[in-house]
Parts: sequence; structure tokens; C-alpha cells
Amino acid sequence: MVSEPVIEVELVPVYTLRRTDNTRKVRALYNLQFPPDTWMGRNQAHWMLSNDVEPVAGFCSAAYLKDLKCGFFTAAWVRAAVRGGGIQRRMIRTRVNWSKKQGARFCLTYCAADNYGSLYNLLRCGFQAYWKSGWHVCVLKFEDISAHTINAALKRTSWDKGS
Ligand SMILES: CC(C)(COP(=O)(O)OP(=O)(O)OC[C@H]1O[C@@H](n2cnc3c(N)ncnc32)[C@H](O)[C@@H]1OP(=O)(O)O)[C@@H](O)C(=O)NCCC(=O)NCCS
Repeated sequence: MVSEPVIEVELVPVYTLRRTDNTRKVRALYNLQFPPDTWMGRNQAHWMLSNDVEPVAGFCSAAYLKDLKCGFFTAAWVRAAVRGGGIQRRMIRTRVNWSKKQGARFCLTYCAADNYGSLYNLLRCGFQAYWKSGWHVCVLKFEDISAHTINAALKRTSWDKGS
């Protein structure tokens, strides 16, 4: 008798990134994952990463600074067990597209000196980085934007980590 070959199939959980209005939930996650950073406040958009069995596998947020026409990325977090699959890049692209729809001329964020994974992901999504006061300030320009405008955006958000 010829036995059937055994085919092993690995089931990969599919995670979806969806916009959420549940600010309270995102804020609780933010406080847990990013102490002692300060919550940026109202007027942020949030996205939750989930699948059928895991309602909270990550989240990301952004704010739109209307007068400066700047999409400012305020947070991104992926649960440790889910990391390594390029999800942050998905989060970056989602927020870039959202910012463009708001009318942004550029997107802006920063990452800690030793957060190479995050920096790498931002660079792969087209951001340029420069070093300021111990942080990587990361910018994606859709138009010619002056350093003055970028600095104004950093100051506005109180995320200017200037020493
Ligand atoms: C940052 C974070 C969201 C990334 O999660 P993720 O989407 O699963 O990240 P990935 O592992 O898919 O991507 C990291 C990439 O950086 C690369 N990388 C990691 N360390 C690196 C280093 N020292 N030098 C160069 N590249 C590096 C990885 O190889 C990977 O690239 P690849 O996809 O081409 O292999 C996650 O680690 C996290 O939640 N960290 C805690 C919160 C945080 O730091 N948020 C960001 C604040 S700016």
C-alpha cells in the first residue's frame, strides 16, 4: 500500500490594521507602552492591529497639524510576539496615505537613538532622518519644505526634545 505524502501547512495569522475611534483604549495602551511620554491629546487618528483571536496586537496614531500641513506620527507599537513581519511599515504607509488625504505637505516623526528597527522601517518607507538633540528626526516630504517649517512642527507638538 502506498501511503499518502504528509503535507504540513503552517497557518499564519492574518492581522488587519483598522481605524478605531476607541481613544480610551489606545490611550491606555499608549500609557502602558510609552511611559513617561506625554499623550499628544485630541485630534489624533488611531489604528488598531487585530485578528480574529487577538483584538489588540498593536496600534499606531498620528495627528494632523492643519496650519503647517504636517502629518505627525505620534506612536507605533507591535506586540512582541507579532514583530518581525513588517507590520510597522504597513502602519507607516497607512498614516502617510491618511496624511496625504488630509492635505499634508510632509510627514514627521522621530525615534530614539537606539531604535534601529523603527529608523530602518521609516527609511525604507522613504523618510529622511537627521540627528537632533539625541533623537532621529524623520521627515517625508511631498513638497519642498524648509527646516524652519519642520522645526515649527516639532515645537508645536512639544516633541522637540531639545536639550
Ligand atoms: C518598532 C516596532 C513597531 C517594529 O515592529 P515590526 O513592524 O514588527 O518590525 P520589523 O521587525 O518587521 O521591522 C524591523 C526591521 O528593522 C530591521 N532592523 C532591526 N534592527 C536593526 C538594526 N540594528 N540595524 C538595521 N536594521 C535593523 C529588521 O531586520 C527589520 O527589517 P526587515 O523587515 O527588512 O527584516 C516594534 O519593535 C515595537 O513595537 N517596538 C516598541 C515600540 C516602539 O519602539 N515603537 C516605535 C517608536 S518610534
